[in-house]
Amino acid sequence: MTRIYAMANQKGGVGKTTTAINLGAYLAARGLRVLLVDVDPQANATSSLGLDKNQVSATVYRSLIDEVSLADSVLQNPRFKLALVPSNPQLAGAEVELVGLLGREYRLLRAIQTVVTRFDYILLDCPPSLGLLTINALVAAQHGVIIPVQCEYLALEGLTQLTQTLDLVRKHLNPKLRIRGLLLTMYDPRTNLSQQVVSQVRSHFGDLVFQTVVPRNVRLSEAPSYGEPVLFFDPKSAGALAYQALAGELVRTDDQRPVSAPDR
Ligand SMILES: Nc1ncnc2c1ncn2[C@@H]1O[C@H](COP(=O)(O)OP(=O)(O)O)[C@@H](O)[C@H]1O
Ligand SMILES: [Mg+2]
Repeated sequence: MTRIYAMANQKGGVGKTTTAINLGAYLAARGLRVLLVDVDPQANATSSLGLDKNQVSATVYRSLIDEVSLADSVLQNPRFKLALVPSNPQLAGAEVELVGLLGREYRLLRAIQTVVTRFDYILLDCPPSLGLLTINALVAAQHGVIIPVQCEYLALEGLTQLTQTLDLVRKHLNPKLRIRGLLLTMYDPRTNLSQQVVSQVRSHFGDLVFQTVVPRNVRLSEAPSYGEPVLFFDPKSAGALAYQALAGELVRTDDQRPVSAPDR
């Protein structure tokens, strides 16, 4: 059974792409078949895996707009054992072009359905906005959304708007949409602020928050410029261990819940 999760938060720089790449790599290292779909025109996931975003032509854009089969855009990375549907800056146009198309909110879901049996996990890396690309990802995210939350001032602020959007999508487009988990990222144990954010988010969202907390760790921010997940760049770093733990936690808690579990 394939599980499809979107990494979403309209705030930029909170760790969506870092989570998509590194969670994906650690799931793959467990022998699971993982597909990462880069749904962000900034194409950070694409470049973080060592591809030149200005050179790729097989992108998610072609499936969303031109209805080319998504299977034709899946690139396998044999070293990382990760499959990727890349993005490039052309995808920015899709935000506008989708508006006039039939079934504009369902296009990514339709595209993904053609490859779904080939994977155990499909992770969708969303752009930092709540436009049609993110809506497409939320509709396609049949098993929920993973929300990275940066441990910093006003962390809860943007979450109200995000949960309102999730409510709207659930009501009108994808009744199955649920929060799979909030992930606290860039945690700095030396600051009171980080600790305050952790306890605020936990008291507000309870067991919707992953036990695993990702520390602020420079190796996580260096790995993308080498085009590698941290598992290959520095597997002993604190950031790597956190994403390894997250993959374990996700798989363990996925196993505990039937796939058709009712919304929380
Ligand atoms: N836990 C972390 N520790 C240190 N740097 C991080 C961490 N998570 C992400 N970063 C860095 O912060 C920046 C924003 O992260 P990113 O995953 O691209 O956020 P988003 O996709 O939400 O915009 C990137 O430069 C990334 O390398
Ligand atoms: Mg990103």
